[in-house]
Amino acid sequence: MILVTGGAGFIGANFVLDWLKGSDEPVLNVDKLTYAGNLGTLKSLKDDTRHVFARADICDREAIDALLEQHKPRAILHFAAESHVDRSIHGPAEFVQTNVVGTFILLEAARMYWSKLPEDEKQAFRFLHVSTDEVYGSLSSTDPQFSETTPYAPNSPYSATKAGSDHLVRAYHHTYGLPVLTTNCSNNYGPYQFPEKLIPLMIANALNGKPLPVYGDGQNVRDWLYVGDHCSAIREVLARGALGETYNVGGWNEKKNLEVVHTLCDLLDKAKPKSSGSYRDQITYVKDRPGHDRRYAIDARKLERELGWKPAETFDTGLAKTVQWYLDNQAWADEVASGDYRRWVETNYAQRA
Ligand code: NAD
Ligand code: TYD
Repeated sequence: MILVTGGAGFIGANFVLDWLKGSDEPVLNVDKLTYAGNLGTLKSLKDDTRHVFARADICDREAIDALLEQHKPRAILHFAAESHVDRSIHGPAEFVQTNVVGTFILLEAARMYWSKLPEDEKQAFRFLHVSTDEVYGSLSSTDPQFSETTPYAPNSPYSATKAGSDHLVRAYHHTYGLPVLTTNCSNNYGPYQFPEKLIPLMIANALNGKPLPVYGDGQNVRDWLYVGDHCSAIREVLARGALGETYNVGGWNEKKNLEVVHTLCDLLDKAKPKSSGSYRDQITYVKDRPGHDRRYAIDARKLERELGWKPAETFDTGLAKTVQWYLDNQAWADEVASGDYRRWVETNYAQRA
């Protein structure tokens, strides 16, 4: 079987669902179930014996050791993280704990487990670390996209802790020979994304008649990747990636935030028209995020050249699917918008008015 950390979060859960659609190889899903983890996302797997869920913290070495010993995975895919930049600005400690210390503990547990495997299993074992393009810092409008050789220059507590985890993963390969792979992807979007992130937040606020809070001038650029494409890239890297290598994963979809919000409003105007006016009328400019990175853009040619991976979705097809998914699954979005979520909205947006 494979072990997935963070498989109750947005990308991890999409990965688990996709994996079990295409394979009968079981998944051990290890997740602490923070505010961002949601078992409701996995309810279609409730009676599926191929999915084993274990609630555990990656910082708990004993728990991780016991799970490795009991289930003997052939690979670890590490998605678990604190993942939201704005939360890292309000409370960086959790980010250091899970992203740096947690990754370190997971690496140590993996190294001990791997070192005792029989030679053929040792050869076949993989530790795939899921990271972000934010470790490379911010681009100007004329800079070339991030490649795998772009120097690290993280600017937020979130990206700094992800950069730290990437360095540890690299060091475990270089020093101990642990068979690692690292992927650095751009902004994901799609079904089951927690509504603190731009796209699901804007959809939820639009439908609830709330303001659509655009930070700063709305001209920051992100490079959008449909989550299903990210999952297919990870499967390719796991199957055929070269050990110790990193692969950038991107959708070739650079968009300014305001453009994204406009497109979302236009899609909603068609799918669920308001009694009068457009969803665009709800757009409100709010105080910018401190240290807000101006532009991210991924050069994903290495993955295409070496492993033949290309995204299947364009931004138009991916976003249309995503909007439709949120319209069809409003119960999921209402369920995750719990007391904790409401407190977060209060913390993040109250001072931005
Ligand atoms: P998410 O916040 O939606 O989910 C994270 C999951 O990890 C949750 O289920 C949470 O319960 C779990 N988790 C958190 N701390 C844990 C701990 N200490 N032990 C065990 N489980 C824990 O995140 P996501 O958007 O699915 O991101 C997954 C990975 O992809 C992260 O490593 C993130 O840095 C990376 N990434 C995400 C994006 C994006 O756009 N979402 C972009 C680039 C990279
Ligand atoms: P986000 O989804 O938080 O991802 P990241 O910061 O990791 O790129 O934000 C995407 C972009 O959208 C980012 O430039 C910040 C901006 N943004 C807003 O303008 N308003 C919002 O309410 C949020 C959450 C984000």
